[in-house]
Amino acid sequence: RFTPTPEDRFTFGLWTVGWQGRDPFGDATRAAIDPAESVRRLAELGAYGVTFHDDDLIPFGATDSEREGIVKRFRQALDAAGLVVPMATTNLFTHPVFKDGAFTANDRDVRRFALRKTLRNIDLAVELGATTYVAWGGREGSESGAAKDIRLALDRMKEAFDLLGEYVTGQGYDLRFAIEPKPNEPRGDILLPTIGHALAFIERLERPELVGVNPETGHEQMAGLNFPHGIAQALWAGKLFHIDLNGQTGIKYDQDLRFGAGDLRQAFWLVDLLETAGYAGPRHFDFKPPRTEDHDGVWASAAGCMRNYLILKERAAAFRADPAVQEALRASRLDELARRTAEDGIAGLLADRSAYEEFDVTAAAERGMAFEALDQLAMDHLLGVR
Ligand code: GCO
Ligand code: MN
Ligand code: MN
Ligand code: MN
Repeated sequence: RFTPTPEDRFTFGLWTVGWQGRDPFGDATRAAIDPAESVRRLAELGAYGVTFHDDDLIPFGATDSEREGIVKRFRQALDAAGLVVPMATTNLFTHPVFKDGAFTANDRDVRRFALRKTLRNIDLAVELGATTYVAWGGREGSESGAAKDIRLALDRMKEAFDLLGEYVTGQGYDLRFAIEPKPNEPRGDILLPTIGHALAFIERLERPELVGVNPETGHEQMAGLNFPHGIAQALWAGKLFHIDLNGQTGIKYDQDLRFGAGDLRQAFWLVDLLETAGYAGPRHFDFKPPRTEDHDGVWASAAGCMRNYLILKERAAAFRADPAVQEALRASRLDELARRTAEDGIAGLLADRSAYEEFDVTAAAERGMAFEALDQLAMDHLLGVR
């Protein structure tokens, strides 16, 4: 029970378990982990796959022959462990050259370098079987007003995604892009700060069908937003191409806690949503085992992400299956929300005297919605007392 298997499609970034605990105030608290070791340990824990930034695997500035050797070893580790690589991404934020951004840096040569770095890793991602390519623009933004002309920066952002789309189409790659929003950190203000901003941006691209979103739990919550609501809108738009699951406690720095820590109620509704909406992609964890942990703590933290997902999946299924919940959903008129407002069209609506002239506004205003009883049933299921 609550033991993950590859069928659960749990994936982890190499940079998550591999995080050494370096933060703005302190040095690393853990030694680096060999990616091959991460692959082996994650497979033992029941994961399905791993994901990576180019630089997680191949140190920035490695020679071509070093790169070849590293990729060969990584591929052997994947094959031995039976793990897949469904997603990859580019590190466009660590090296100081990206201090003013990558696709939207004011310096044109930096933008051209960022695109070439990305294209190079896209080739590797496809070689390793990835079908999703994530783009997190952590350095795309500013700390002050005149430093960045946001409308021009968005032109350059669009240009970048249009070029990337042209490239994968020309190569015949089976690869889609997923933009990862974040409101701030490391930049004071980051471009495409929320799911909504990203969805609106995508519709302006030359090939919008190639681009979706990769929302991260904590990033929406850093903006005070409801993560399950954002995910629901991404699903509604057909744009949930990938997801980064982790934990966050309210509006503060990016905590990247293990999944299930932080806002547990939102985690419950999120799992309920993913499991009932037919989301078929990987359940990808992008968390940071706290720097208090040694390597045993890292694997305990990774195991906890998967265990919490499976516990919440069971709790959410129990909630949905409970006859008292189904009754409470009817009492709250969820069935009525599913009904068209005017299947009779505008003419029918205008001709319907009961809709306006004879509508009993007072009686309708007095009707209770019974949401509290419904929510308490959810709490009882979440807390395991029902
Ligand atoms: C964060 C971001 C990053 C990105 C990852 C992919 O926590 O600020 O989520 O972890 O997801 O680097 O580029
Ligand atoms: Mn984060
Ligand atoms: Mn992320
Ligand atoms: Mn992250």
